[in-house]
Amino acid sequence: MTNYSLPPGYTLLQSFWRTYKQVKDPIGTMEESMARFGGTYAVNLGSRRLIATQDPGFIEHVLKVNHRNYYKSTILTEQLGRFIGNGLLTSNGEYWLRQRRLIQPGFHTDKIQALYAIIKKTADDFLQTIPGGTLDVYPLMNRLAFEIVINTLFTIRMPVKTRDELGRFITETQDFVIRDIRQPHKSWWFHLSGEVKRNMNNAEGARHIIRTMIRERKESGKKFDDLLDMLLDARYEDTGAAMEESQVIDEILILLIAGHETTANALSFTLYLLASHRDELEKLRESTAGLTFQQCVKHPLLAAVIQESMRLYPPAWISDRVSLHDDAYNNYTFPKDIIVILFYYGLHRDARYWQDPLSFKPERFLKAGQEKEKQKIYYPFGAGPRMCIGNNFAMAEMAIFLQAFIQKFDVMPGGVAPNLKPLVTLRPDHVILKISNLS
Ligand code: HEM
Repeated sequence: MTNYSLPPGYTLLQSFWRTYKQVKDPIGTMEESMARFGGTYAVNLGSRRLIATQDPGFIEHVLKVNHRNYYKSTILTEQLGRFIGNGLLTSNGEYWLRQRRLIQPGFHTDKIQALYAIIKKTADDFLQTIPGGTLDVYPLMNRLAFEIVINTLFTIRMPVKTRDELGRFITETQDFVIRDIRQPHKSWWFHLSGEVKRNMNNAEGARHIIRTMIRERKESGKKFDDLLDMLLDARYEDTGAAMEESQVIDEILILLIAGHETTANALSFTLYLLASHRDELEKLRESTAGLTFQQCVKHPLLAAVIQESMRLYPPAWISDRVSLHDDAYNNYTFPKDIIVILFYYGLHRDARYWQDPLSFKPERFLKAGQEKEKQKIYYPFGAGPRMCIGNNFAMAEMAIFLQAFIQKFDVMPGGVAPNLKPLVTLRPDHVILKISNLS
């Protein structure tokens, strides 16, 4: 290790103390360290070395320039993978690449256009169920985002009871995985108390539901042009074969997990920001009145509002990679097996790259000719080969829903600002808003 030139950082003792503090306040602790060391620092946990960075050049190096040298760390992939299987989000290497090549075309803008009508119908049906009054919108956005993924996967053909069962599995599994990651010392207890087994049983239940949907679809011989058809029709370039049934189930579970909480977080924060900035809300309402859902998807201000919301509150607030071989960036050199933590939240609020970084200003995303510059400092969907496969889908569903929502409802702050819960994703802890019908 002595031959390497790691970034400045913490000694062994300090590192353990920081880790303890970090569990209690992950964002605050990281922000403090970033300010102290200028945006990149090293942590020494004895057998494990980490580098945390919000340096845009370093992030680009890991995700794009030298991406072949980096795998996703096993912290999340293995924990999640044992319940939801081996799909895009939880795999690495050759298997991941083959799956990515197979599934990527299905998420191309041309392909997902067929899904916009389903998204619009889901959003409209959902808006009928919003009671108005002072509400926590987070659980609502969670339900909406889940319904959108389910309906675009199965063309609104899943019975409500089955959908709720699947929803319960997803929520319980995610919560359990988070607890397991945050409290590794309790792993033995989770086994002994039967929690691991219960979650495994839940996972089997979810797989059974999806398996039944797949078999019914195949037997029906009908085509729906939804995400399930896309997965069933996809063929590997090299063999021309389709996925095995168990692989399709793995990928569906991945889409349900990856596509639902992130969207719910982004929508909740966006509604909170609009409620707290009435001028922006009015401007958006006026400029999106009477739009069709196809127009919403291309509307610059709708996109800018969502982008600005994800700058301030990136649902994927952090990401991690492990180096496969020794590597170097700028003056730093570091060994293989080092964990690199990419702190997007910090970069998105760094005053060196963003003017007035803590203010909500959607117009910063409307400036023409700055797209290339922005790409280097803005990572809501990650970047490089492992960039979010559902980014266009997510932007479309959020635009379609937001327009429908603000044309139907007014929204005001409900008193307190939401606390942040930085778990695997950046969740708001209650988003209390006053909602009233406009008509
Ligand atoms: C606002 C909504 C969303 C955000 C902020 C988001 C963010 C991200 C990010 C940052 C990554 C890369 C993680 C990394 O590099 O470590 C990712 C990966 C992924 N996302 Fe999303 N996502 C969103 C919505 C969706 C949706 C709607 C879907 C699918 C329907 C989806 C499917 C996936 C999948 C499958 C991956 C893994 C891709 C791979 O590793 O090849 N995401 N997402």
